[in-house]
Amino acid sequence: MKRILVAGVSGAIGGALTKALLERDKESVVVGLCRDPATVSEPLRSHNRLTLLAWDAEDSQAPDAVARALGETIPAPEGIDTFIYAAGLLHDGAMFPEKRLEELKAESLSRAFAVNATGFALLVQALLPWFRHREFIRIAAISAKVGSIEDNRLGGWYAYRSSKAALNMLVRTLSVELPRRCKPVACVSLHPGTTDSALSDPFRQSLAQLQVHGAADTARNLLTVIEGVTPEDNGRFLSWDGSELPW
Ligand SMILES: NC(=O)c1ccc[n+]([C@@H]2O[C@H](COP(=O)([O-])OP(=O)(O)OC[C@H]3O[C@@H](n4cnc5c(N)ncnc54)[C@H](OP(=O)(O)O)[C@@H]3O)[C@@H](O)[C@H]2O)c1
Repeated sequence: MKRILVAGVSGAIGGALTKALLERDKESVVVGLCRDPATVSEPLRSHNRLTLLAWDAEDSQAPDAVARALGETIPAPEGIDTFIYAAGLLHDGAMFPEKRLEELKAESLSRAFAVNATGFALLVQALLPWFRHREFIRIAAISAKVGSIEDNRLGGWYAYRSSKAALNMLVRTLSVELPRRCKPVACVSLHPGTTDSALSDPFRQSLAQLQVHGAADTARNLLTVIEGVTPEDNGRFLSWDGSELPW
């Protein structure tokens, strides 16, 4: 993993993954995407092998702008060997996970889909010219176990669950098309495990009985899985410990 793009570099998991990737290989270069590069904390922000580009998943024009700017750091013929999508939206000032049907809002569904699913697929589309090489390509979408349709016994969280299920379907669909266009490739969905972050913070109390990982531990777990995947893993939904999850 030498030429890497991480979307969601300002987040707890995206930031920890980026830091770990830069530490693991002193020759690696990382391009990190987030809404406002100024929010990425030091010393990561000024790391000499990290380039930060502004990108908003709710702006459908943003992937084309990313592709134009990316070419200045990593020319398309050099290619990218690893793309990790670690952006995600569960709540913000304008939305919160629904407990019951009456709380469902079109706006929340649409925003969750834009950040949790559409943003990933549009970036893969824009990055296609960077995937046309013969080295192994790893594409990892950070999904969530609550996006599993089969595993859904609790209900609620309509917008988040359904947008993560949509992300999983995009991964699975890409896993069919991509090997025809850029081989060898593994496109996978990953559940990071419950992780201490702004996204999980409002649920701290109800998570008390679960195993909650620090972001650095989650990054280590996810990188072990990402490093270990082979073309045979293309199209799989894997948990942070490498075990298989039901779609
Ligand atoms: N934490 C957990 O327990 C847990 C469990 C299962 C799955 N996950 C998944 O893991 C991933 C990372 O989550 P996290 O825990 O690291 O949460 P986090 O710290 O809140 O990070 C979320 C990231 O998503 C970005 N984002 C939100 N809206 C965006 C938009 N419109 N455009 C571009 N980026 C946007 C944030 O960027 P800004 O800085 O611009 O807001 C931030 O980089 C998410 O996909 C999440 O669903 C987390």
